[in-house]
Amino acid sequence: MQQTSHWHRLETADQVASAACQHILKAAGQAIAEHGKFKLVLAGGSTPEKVYGLLAQADADWANWVIYYGDERCLPADDADRNSMIACRTLLDKVAIPANQIFTIAAELGNEQAATAYRPIVASALPFDMVMLGVGEDGHTASLFPGHVHNEDELVHAVYDSPKAPPMRVSISAKALSDTRGLMFLITGSNKREIVKAWHAGQALPVTTITPEHPVDIYIDSAAEA
Ligand code: 6PG
Repeated sequence: MQQTSHWHRLETADQVASAACQHILKAAGQAIAEHGKFKLVLAGGSTPEKVYGLLAQADADWANWVIYYGDERCLPADDADRNSMIACRTLLDKVAIPANQIFTIAAELGNEQAATAYRPIVASALPFDMVMLGVGEDGHTASLFPGHVHNEDELVHAVYDSPKAPPMRVSISAKALSDTRGLMFLITGSNKREIVKAWHAGQALPVTTITPEHPVDIYIDSAAEA
């Protein structure tokens, strides 16, 4: 399926975060009204931290939010560089989402064991309501990296030799990430400018393998826009 996209061009990273936060809160209200829950996949890395901080200040129906992670780094569970630790520090420790509705990837067990354990969780979740994703300078997203070959039918991959530390990771697959009602990419900073140019030029990248039925929303600041 071809990726279609809506580009939301904003001046600053703060404006990107604010717009993305409002988009997520609106999607949450719609999902909860329609089926009682808001199934949200969190992005890793640093870009979403501003969004998480704004969400933490929002008034939302947290009791009906369900949290998943797009990927996780194989580090100890309490390592500050874990995507789960970043999400807890900036959002999850500050809002009343029931603990049994937060599905952490047990990446401390190793990539294969953690991926195996997360597959039924993802299978039960699909379709997601909103997926948040970042974009790496090489066009990776979640822990789907250029040149890496995966079984495309898998819902969750064990990742080896990641070019972005740590080398071992767990990632929800392109297939599963694409099975969602809404999806947004968050892109800020001049270091993403080159990969955005390649994206606009139609280069095949991991980010372009994410192809939900509905257009993806790309929130980007002026520093990153080609
Ligand atoms: C990770 C993320 C990764 C991230 C991009 C962008 O575990 O690192 O899942 O896919 O989203 O590398 O990272 P920044 O937002 O820090 O630029």
